[in-house]
Amino acid sequence: MATPDASHAFMSASATGAAAPVGVFDLAEAAHAFVLPEGVRYLDTASKGPRLASVLAAGQAALADAIAPWTLSFDAWRAQIEALRALAAATVFAGDSEGVAMVPSAAYGLAIAARQVPLAPGEAVLLLDGQFPSNLLAWQQRCAETGAHLAVARRAPGQDWTAAVLATLEAQPRVRVATLPHAYWRDGSLLDLDRIAPRLQMLVLDLSQSLGVLPVRLDAWRPDFVVSVGHKWLLGPMGLAWLWASPHWRAHGVPFEQHWQARDPGADWNFPVEAPPPFRAGARRFDAGGVADPLRLAMASAALQQLQHWQPARIAARLGALGAAFDEELQAQGAGDWTVPGHAPHLGALRPPAAAMQGVLPWLQRAKVICTHRHGALRIAPYLQLTPEAMRALAREMVAVARG
Ligand SMILES: Cc1ncc(COP(=O)(O)O)c(C=O)c1O
Repeated sequence: MATPDASHAFMSASATGAAAPVGVFDLAEAAHAFVLPEGVRYLDTASKGPRLASVLAAGQAALADAIAPWTLSFDAWRAQIEALRALAAATVFAGDSEGVAMVPSAAYGLAIAARQVPLAPGEAVLLLDGQFPSNLLAWQQRCAETGAHLAVARRAPGQDWTAAVLATLEAQPRVRVATLPHAYWRDGSLLDLDRIAPRLQMLVLDLSQSLGVLPVRLDAWRPDFVVSVGHKWLLGPMGLAWLWASPHWRAHGVPFEQHWQARDPGADWNFPVEAPPPFRAGARRFDAGGVADPLRLAMASAALQQLQHWQPARIAARLGALGAAFDEELQAQGAGDWTVPGHAPHLGALRPPAAAMQGVLPWLQRAKVICTHRHGALRIAPYLQLTPEAMRALAREMVAVARG
């Protein structure tokens, strides 16, 4: 697999047409690690991560290699898969590579989780009001199949998500499982999983908006499943998402497709008609078909190498400084109440008065500021290509435009 190597930095074409150095960058140099069109201020990591030059180069090299597919032997391909699994585990899953599986989307991983949970009529699945649909639809389906129902946590005015979840647990004693994020996808408001997790029988986490930045406390939270897309804060390609399964589900879980990749057919690759070969060890039974495409493996591997070098805790600190600079400038401009109190260090939202938003939206286009506008708020999800100064300037400009 062609992955960039820090000691052999080479050059690739960037989206601007300029040559960009490729390799593993130190945090102080992080702004130079990305390929973004000239003049764009990209604040949409919560939708898709900015493209690392190393990931672009790895993808291009993998595509070029694919003109001679026979040069990648079956064993070398399997070794790539296992190396990537170990890298993901080392970077974001506390080194637990036996617990990690590769799936095509968060929805796929969450559907696996939902399928395992035993649910009976009268029991409930706790989730948040307005939760991302990939972590809603599978549970609606399971409830329809089993006669269970959803226990929806809704925030009262001034209440945070943690209090809303704990209040829902009080009100609904028959909650069998909670399926939650760490940071709410619309505005980054945080949940205190240290307080919530001990109150639960079963826990499923969709960490698509925090993995790669906020730590996963597997030992403290003892989740059954953890899911995340790979193309946001993990900076990888679409179509390769991550599923971590607890030791119980690695031994007893049932995947919902029967792909040969998840089985161990032995050295002679034998699949007898009488009975299937055993599952591969650990969470590999949940490995989905089609995901381990060499292109995606190469891109995900380059992305995780860079994240491992930067380290999620240091990324969180740097992104926290960007968010703090933005919020401080809003305060200084008298617009402190346009943002969400208690948001994650890396993810927030700006909610100017509704009339003002009408002026802000066309300005975003003119000024090449990229962010998601939904439900009356602009989601602010910067990454390491931005600086605190740039975030302050952005806050000043946005407030000025909103005020006309
Ligand atoms: C919280 C959350 N979960 C999941 C996803 C994506 O899920 P999927 O891979 O199913 O499209 C997103 C964003 O796209 C998200 O914000």
